Amino acid sequence: MIQDFKPCHVVNEEIGRGKTYTLITYGCQMNENDSEVIAAIVENFGFIFTENMADADLVIINTCAVRKKPEDKVTSLLGKLSILKKERHSLKIAVGGCMSQQQDFAQQLKKRFPGVDLIFGTHALTKLPDLIKQIFTDKRTVIDIEEHNRVHEGLPSRPKNTFHAWVPVIYGCDNFCAYCVVPYVRGRERSRELESIIKEVHELVSSGYKEVTLLGQNVNSYGNDLYGPESFAKLLTCLDQIDGLARIRFMTSNPKDLSNEVIAVIRDSRKICEHIHLPVQSGSNRILELMNRQYTREYYLNLVNKIRSEVPGISITTDILVGFPGENENDFLDTLELLQEIKFDNAFAFIYSKRMNTKAASLEDHISYKEKEERLSRINAVQQPISKMINERLKGNTCEILVEGRSKNNEQMLTGRTRSNKLVHFASSCHLEGQLLNVKIEKALTWNLVGSLQDGEK
Ligand code: 5AD
Ligand code: SF4
Repeated sequence: MIQDFKPCHVVNEEIGRGKTYTLITYGCQMNENDSEVIAAIVENFGFIFTENMADADLVIINTCAVRKKPEDKVTSLLGKLSILKKERHSLKIAVGGCMSQQQDFAQQLKKRFPGVDLIFGTHALTKLPDLIKQIFTDKRTVIDIEEHNRVHEGLPSRPKNTFHAWVPVIYGCDNFCAYCVVPYVRGRERSRELESIIKEVHELVSSGYKEVTLLGQNVNSYGNDLYGPESFAKLLTCLDQIDGLARIRFMTSNPKDLSNEVIAVIRDSRKICEHIHLPVQSGSNRILELMNRQYTREYYLNLVNKIRSEVPGISITTDILVGFPGENENDFLDTLELLQEIKFDNAFAFIYSKRMNTKAASLEDHISYKEKEERLSRINAVQQPISKMINERLKGNTCEILVEGRSKNNEQMLTGRTRSNKLVHFASSCHLEGQLLNVKIEKALTWNLVGSLQDGEK
């Protein structure tokens, strides 16, 4: 079911006139995208963004529930905000996103932090204008965590930059991996209509955007609910034909659903970037089965070989979960061996964190935290030299990059991203943000590359 956003509900500049807001985002790109929507809604009320939380009239936290760490950060932040609110009663605090979506969390939060004015879940974005109005007129905590599994169209957005945009194509997840909270906090899979996505990308291109990243918890399921199999391949084919668009990315791909057709579209396309994020989670068949991943180590290896033979030079990154309940040393060694065998461009490793309501929450977890930390370090010790070695191969090559802005650590340098999603720093004093330029790679590090600009002004 599609729910359209009615802009007439939005514009009420009285509430935010002369006031500031700040927005803190945890979690994945889907949350980043939701925050861009939240920012636009709040700014439509007249609020102006400030980095300075201590001065803000409205603080919004967009939360993530995937692991305990980001949850702990939110509770500690709410502790600080509660103190701030005691000094400044007019401060309004809103907590949205995946943590909020959980029934128990919303109630506990209300009890523990009575200063919180609004708790809104992942399904509440269309209602956010009304919810914000309520907290400025009503003193009670407003909670909206109703789950309705609709697709929202026409939501406003205030993208962070003018050259890259997130484009959600499918919401929710139906896979129920045993460790994962996402199906419980983001609801069932529901796709946006093909025409809406194509229209949005056309509009982005007309506004000067060069790159889009299609988002979904499992983009490979795109359209199964609306059009049947191979809809994601069809969507990619349609977007590939949009004149003026330079780059298409997508994430995240579930290995079990990545089809030959999608691989062929990537191979034949000029715009789809040569990078795929393909979380493997474990190299042990026993653990993969317990995780309900619905593929085996052999299937995954075969898939990687197929992708590499169809799209030579493609960069493949992955996620690894260490310390899943019952993971023994042999299971873990299987994962280390898989990393050695595949040689991912990068692997993001996480310590398993028990999540409420998930299937794994009821499994016995005998592994000590120390052991889990050790496994995490062992993963990184294997992967880091591999990442560096792969980056070394790029030395001397000239790569096209999309310039993102000044390097975070060095004002003299600009940073851009290659089609294979590698960060490249290069010296320049010019304003080149949003431009596609060629750089020659001169130095390879584990996490990024250093190069020199080949064309135009430096
Ligand atoms: N604990 C730790 N990491 C998790 N992830 C998902 N659920 C959990 C959990 N319960 C990791 C997976 C996933 C990434 C986004 O987060 O590796 O791919
Ligand atoms: Fe975190 Fe998952 Fe929610 Fe993204 S969808 S914010 S990773 S819990």
